[in-house]
Amino acid sequence: MAKRSIIITGGAGFIGSHVVRLFVNKYPDYHIINLDKLTYCGNLENLKDVESAPNYSFERADICDFEAVSAIIRKYNVDGIIHLAAESHVDRSIRDPFAFAMTNVMGTLSLLQAAKAYWESLPEGYDGKLFYHISTDEVYGALEMTDPEGIESPFTTAASSQHHHAYGSEFFLETTKYNPHSPYSASKASSDHFVRAFHDTYGMPTIVTNCSNNYGPYQFPEKLIPLFINNIRHRKPLPVYGRGENVRDWLYVEDHARAIDVIFHRGKVADTYNIGGFNEWKNIDIVKVLIKTVDRLLGNPEGASLDLITYVTDRKGHDLRYAIDSRKLQRELGWEPSLQFEEGIERTVRWYLDNEEWVDRITSGDYLKYYEEMYGNR
Ligand code: NAD
Ligand code: TYD
Repeated sequence: MAKRSIIITGGAGFIGSHVVRLFVNKYPDYHIINLDKLTYCGNLENLKDVESAPNYSFERADICDFEAVSAIIRKYNVDGIIHLAAESHVDRSIRDPFAFAMTNVMGTLSLLQAAKAYWESLPEGYDGKLFYHISTDEVYGALEMTDPEGIESPFTTAASSQHHHAYGSEFFLETTKYNPHSPYSASKASSDHFVRAFHDTYGMPTIVTNCSNNYGPYQFPEKLIPLFINNIRHRKPLPVYGRGENVRDWLYVEDHARAIDVIFHRGKVADTYNIGGFNEWKNIDIVKVLIKTVDRLLGNPEGASLDLITYVTDRKGHDLRYAIDSRKLQRELGWEPSLQFEEGIERTVRWYLDNEEWVDRITSGDYLKYYEEMYGNR
């Protein structure tokens, strides 16, 4: 019998696929169950390299479907849940907030209820169980930008020696008051509250982590970095919102997956950890790095794609600056990012250029046919 039986929700998505891959490969004695609805951005092609591993199973289900989720938890005698399934794109949340409340709030609640009912029915109850909820730094709202030129960052990590900017003196801490602005962040904030409420009310062992922007392979090409790499490749305009002055803190996705591994195994129950890259960038500066890297790797003359930059109407309610202080995680559990941003971007651009077929199948909608053949219409 497997030592642990863990459901990873949203395992066919961007971050989830990296977490599934890490756990399946690193823990052959765990049974890893990927529970995913396969929405437009869930893609089983992200997991081709692990799909036939003996310790991996896939279950197609909607987290909002309480009966289906309960049956899967019972079927595998699940003792751990790492919950990543969500609607995750801010622009979509502005157009369709209902979908975000449904999946992120009601879906999380349904998963919590299903885990609660099963675990409470066992003789040992909550012993040895964990519900680990993956959330975002966007729940904290937005920070001021006090220095548009950037100042030296107060943080040090082995990997952050090259780029070392902060655009203000305030950072999100685990104690920062929630103040979400977008329908996406409001729905994630609500789900975080439900998770904590299940600990406080029923004693369910829970952990919540709030992470900054991730980048890397397998990210759906509607998000800034993969969208822009693909547009540069096809000489399509790069739609920079507003003046491109907004600041985000970027973390390589495999470093996030490593943090999730550390926290799942050694994190303190009922606690919260912020996870960040110690790596603030203005959007426009990222766009220039992407142009430089893609042009170099494609053999274009330096600066050839700068003319693609197109300033467009700003996103509604666009948060100015996110910056995470993740020193609690560094101090208590010894985690810090392993990659310098320059190296992470190089790897990421290379991956998208080397995996044109993956991107093309998504942008053409072909990957949906793969599911229709395997699982019927969605
Ligand atoms: P993603 O959109 O790439 O993937 C989401 C996955 O969830 C997909 O596989 C999708 O099919 C699945 N899903 C959606 N609705 C579902 C439902 N109702 N039932 C079952 N499965 C469903 O998202 P991502 O970028 O990998 O983000 C994963 C998690 O991490 C999310 O909870 C997100 O809020 C959080 N997060 C993301 C970032 C980031 O930069 N991407 C940063 C911090 C936190
Ligand atoms: P995104 O990848 O959507 O992540 P988030 O909104 O969750 O931070 O966007 C990152 C930043 O890039 C954000 O400030 C919005 C901006 N952006 C653009 O300027 N143009 C685009 O086409 C996209 C998708 C994002």
